[in-house]
Amino acid sequence: MVETNSPAAPLKVEYDRASEVKAFDESKVGVKGLVDAGITQIPPFFYKSICDDNPVVNDAQFSIPIIDLGGLNGDPFGRKEIVDRVRAASENGGFFQIVNHSIPKSVMEEMKEGVRQFYEQDTEVKKALYTRDFTKPLVYNTNNNLYSSPSADWRVTFLVRMAPDPPNLEDLPLVCRDILVEYSKQVMKVGILVFELISEALGLNPNHLHDIDCTEGLVLLCHYYPPCPQPELTMGVTKHADIDFLTVLLQDDIGGLQVLNNNEWVDVSPHPGALVVNIGDLLQLITNDRFKSVEHRVLASHVGPRVSIAGFFCTGVLSTSKLYGPISELLSKNNPPKYRETTVKDYIAHSGKKGLDGTKPSDHFKLAKAE
Ligand code: OGA
Ligand code: NI
Repeated sequence: MVETNSPAAPLKVEYDRASEVKAFDESKVGVKGLVDAGITQIPPFFYKSICDDNPVVNDAQFSIPIIDLGGLNGDPFGRKEIVDRVRAASENGGFFQIVNHSIPKSVMEEMKEGVRQFYEQDTEVKKALYTRDFTKPLVYNTNNNLYSSPSADWRVTFLVRMAPDPPNLEDLPLVCRDILVEYSKQVMKVGILVFELISEALGLNPNHLHDIDCTEGLVLLCHYYPPCPQPELTMGVTKHADIDFLTVLLQDDIGGLQVLNNNEWVDVSPHPGALVVNIGDLLQLITNDRFKSVEHRVLASHVGPRVSIAGFFCTGVLSTSKLYGPISELLSKNNPPKYRETTVKDYIAHSGKKGLDGTKPSDHFKLAKAE
């Protein structure tokens, strides 16, 4: 009898994973190429690992708060209430959505459309951009951690570093060049505002996080999740926490993003006009665990393509000498530092080496508990 890659018996398959992964990478067609070729069974290296198996709740007691920033205009009580809600969300679920945030609907629509057009252009144009060199201004590939993660994700991603040094225009894809520049400007403005609210929520001067350069870097990760023929076997994005200070995410209306709350997966449902905000590992580290970087994932789906744009506030792999550790104003005798200092680059390098394996890179930077 011939062994097949049937999902019913994935473990019986004699399978040279490393060379399959390499061949797929070298084909440079990405997951979209597999879908375009009409595959009906996904390659086993996309099979999810069991660490994603927490129950999903539909009637959650807990839901992701939607915070209306419209109340910031003028009314000081409005601002206080917003800061209180930001604090509660950042201390508990690590996620919230914001509406009335100043990015026009037309810019959000154009951004999603631009990303879709990038992926739907000619394969040869995209192949020329396919790379795993993360120092390039534009990095396009299927999974940025394809070789280090136990299972590959059902998505294609390109990332562009928009700050601190804006890329040369000719390094950006023609089909979405202008909107990438415009959206980045707008999302930077929103990011600066959210960092202000978070600073206030921590009892710090509103400019504190901006002043220590949490807004210095902005990397846009532009994701495309093609429809998947066997969505139950894989993930759009494997469970992870973000390795930045803060993420501001624009998602379309397909859904699939879920966040882990008390060991249950809760939907971050698309909300018209909203941006999703979540605390990243580096913010958890500098707040000495007060604000939480919470694990999340994206389900694969028969429906798609799904498009999302994650704005990562951090300088990524750039060389910077600045050290980040728990903010001294937040520490006390009863709240000693839990982490040692690190540069953003070292933090990201460590998480890259580790891959998406379901554990947090910040554990590596934890200080031993005092006796
Ligand atoms: C990410 C991420 C979620 C999404 O890029 O880190 O979690 O909805 N993305 O694409
Ligand atoms: Ni994420």
